[in-house]
Amino acid sequence: MAIEFDDQLGERLVDAAVQPADDAEGSLRPQKLDEYIGQDKAKENLRVFIEAARQRGESLDHVLLSGPPGLGKTTLAGVIANEMGSHVRVTSGPAIEKAGDLAALLTNLAPHDILFIDEIHRLNRAVEEVLYPAMEDFALDIIIGKGPSARSIRLDLPPFTLIGATTRSGQLSAPLRDRFGVLLKLELYAPAELERIVRRSAEILGVNIDREGAFEIASRSRGTPRIANRLLKRVRDYAQVRADGHISREVADMALRALDIDALGLDATDRRMLRGIIDIYGGGPVGLEALSATVGEEAVTLEDVYEPYLLQLGFLSRTPRGRCATVRAYEHLGIAYTAPAAPVQEDSLQQRMDEWLKNG
Ligand code: ADE
Repeated sequence: MAIEFDDQLGERLVDAAVQPADDAEGSLRPQKLDEYIGQDKAKENLRVFIEAARQRGESLDHVLLSGPPGLGKTTLAGVIANEMGSHVRVTSGPAIEKAGDLAALLTNLAPHDILFIDEIHRLNRAVEEVLYPAMEDFALDIIIGKGPSARSIRLDLPPFTLIGATTRSGQLSAPLRDRFGVLLKLELYAPAELERIVRRSAEILGVNIDREGAFEIASRSRGTPRIANRLLKRVRDYAQVRADGHISREVADMALRALDIDALGLDATDRRMLRGIIDIYGGGPVGLEALSATVGEEAVTLEDVYEPYLLQLGFLSRTPRGRCATVRAYEHLGIAYTAPAAPVQEDSLQQRMDEWLKNG
């Protein structure tokens, strides 16, 4: 399966976005549902739909995979293709610029092929409209000519399966979302599941690791396999140079500490985000845009990449007036909790921000 990536957001070690060093991720990807660890609910549903489609000799209904980055949406698309015995073409929303680009992709599909569109919420309107008849009737409507003499001809497409992946299913237009027959929401992984993923990856990479070492990496990987696999490689380096090559709990802990990743997998940027809410906004509520300016990260990155894990840890709560740091966040950072008082006034806000930036 050829897999290309377009999205490269940054190079934080615990960033769930794809990074160039993840190239070798391919060899770690499971090929079959039985090898795919976790996401049990999504997996069991898929098993039934795949079996049913195969028995009928039909293509699988269109599938929408949603959830935070790094949870294995592309991997799952590959697994579905393997289970269906079909080929997958991988592309992404931003890569399909014109309606003609999509038409070219669609007309080159073989019957029962899978078209995987990552970041499908980023498709532009004109392209999206080509998808509607393609998904619904396996047809392409082509307009010939311009003005009053323009006419439309319909071209048949082979039956195919569209697998769309998105980190923000709420941004999908209703007509597009309605055309998916299978909607699967992927969840952050539990540490025990990530431990199994780390041990599987270690075996493939020939890394010597014990259960406790794997669990240590797993519990500091923000519920995300892509991060777990990346940390495994960094801890392997550390074990090789600073220890005897074996990854035990102690070695993993030392390596991750040296990388400034704390016991729960938070890095300096996460802590900066929480500290920003606490130090500048008195614990919140603070709007995403204001927080984005304070932390120096784009609002969408905060929302898609940082927040899901902080929400899962219960360090952050979302209220209609903005984000709040919870008692747990204060405890984790070793700051005494004070219940939010009145909203922080604008003039004192500027002063706090200046002080904060001065103190780094
Ligand atoms: N590697 C990345 N994600 C995985 C998963 N869910 N199961 C097994 N290996 C993986």
